[in-house]
Amino acid sequence: MGSMVVTGAQWGDEGKGRVVDWYAAQADIVARYQGGANAGHTVFVGDEQFTFHLLPTGILRGKLCVIGNGVVVDPEALLEEMAVFESKGVQVQGRLLISENAHLVMPYHKRLDAAHEKRLGEKRIGTTLRGIAPAYSDKYARTGLRVGDLVREKSFAEKLAAILEFKNELLKCLYGEEAMDFDQIFAQYREYRERLLPMIADTALLLNRALDEGKQVLFEGAQGALLDVDFGTYPFCTSSNPIAGGACVGTGIGPRRIDRVIGVVKAYTSRVGQGPFLTELPEEIAATWRERGGEFGSTTGRARRLGWFDAVIVRKAAMLSGLDAVAVTHLDVLDELDAIPVCTHYRHAGETLDIFPNSLEVLAECEPVYEELPGWKQPIRDARSPADLPANARRYLDRLAELIGAPICLALVGRRRDQTIVMS
Ligand code: IMP
Ligand code: MG
Repeated sequence: MGSMVVTGAQWGDEGKGRVVDWYAAQADIVARYQGGANAGHTVFVGDEQFTFHLLPTGILRGKLCVIGNGVVVDPEALLEEMAVFESKGVQVQGRLLISENAHLVMPYHKRLDAAHEKRLGEKRIGTTLRGIAPAYSDKYARTGLRVGDLVREKSFAEKLAAILEFKNELLKCLYGEEAMDFDQIFAQYREYRERLLPMIADTALLLNRALDEGKQVLFEGAQGALLDVDFGTYPFCTSSNPIAGGACVGTGIGPRRIDRVIGVVKAYTSRVGQGPFLTELPEEIAATWRERGGEFGSTTGRARRLGWFDAVIVRKAAMLSGLDAVAVTHLDVLDELDAIPVCTHYRHAGETLDIFPNSLEVLAECEPVYEELPGWKQPIRDARSPADLPANARRYLDRLAELIGAPICLALVGRRRDQTIVMS
């Protein structure tokens, strides 16, 4: 297999969990490279549902898993998630390593996330309230605490005290919120420390050594290219780099270490939170297929916004991540449609736009242009090979490949593991 990156090529929730789970079977190590507990990756084994927020999806395949330096780690969320997995009989202890360079999400980050969204009101981003932007802000402002800081208790206490003084000013004076108590946070993180210590490591060193030995590493992205802080619909985006390049900086490996980059897309488009979405359907129509697609956020439970497949955004994602192939998920959700519109390009000021623009102002002046593909009008959940798919479903996939400019490697036709078709 070689080492590969699996990255979202829309606005997140593409079904990366399922795709990582599929390829993880052949990997030696699975490493998450960005994001935090804002992510929600779902995998069904039989009828049992596993939801991942911080744990790499490879944990289900019994692989060694790494939380890379590019991830922001909320110990409370992580330990809770570990407990859920262990209670379901999935061994996490001894299989998980966390980069000492990864930043910690602290209780004040979550408070500030909520306070800031509230202050923004109508202009809010619609974040997951997991403290993501405040934690990444601190990382880049060089005022963050890292997982490695947990190792040395005394200096952790000193750093926390200094940072908290400043955060409390912010909470009180800017947001009119109550200050947070040092002793309480310190005691809490002391407990986390006891449990996390055995997992803290120099994971960049470990990954590079493993690659030197010919081991295969799967780099797991969270969110998607259009939520990328540099290339997404800024400011309606997340605070990290989900694009494939994020795997290098988010784990400490060189770009030449990556053999293959797989993008994941839904057969249509979804988005949670605020921000532009040109192919969005009116809520009356979205409501009718939301249940069928299970289109509720796995982290926040929010109803996802739904719309037609937009080749303009995926082309951009394919360019940014250098996609070698694309996995198409949720294909079965379209089973009942007579005709399926696909957005091939945008019209802007009388011109054709093939690649998603960077400016939201330009985007506001764009009109999506559709072509209609015939539906297949039959259930495809039992298809297991390309030959099992109705001709129109194959035609739909072929057309997506053509529009994206990359071949389709997998088509997913249901939530279970075995509902996977290897296309190429
Ligand atoms: P944040 O990452 O919590 O700051 O949220 C910023 C934006 O990214 C919001 O629109 C969220 O709904 C969206 N977002 C963050 N994580 C995910 C995800 O895993 N799937 C889909 N959307 C996400
Ligand atoms: Mg998700």
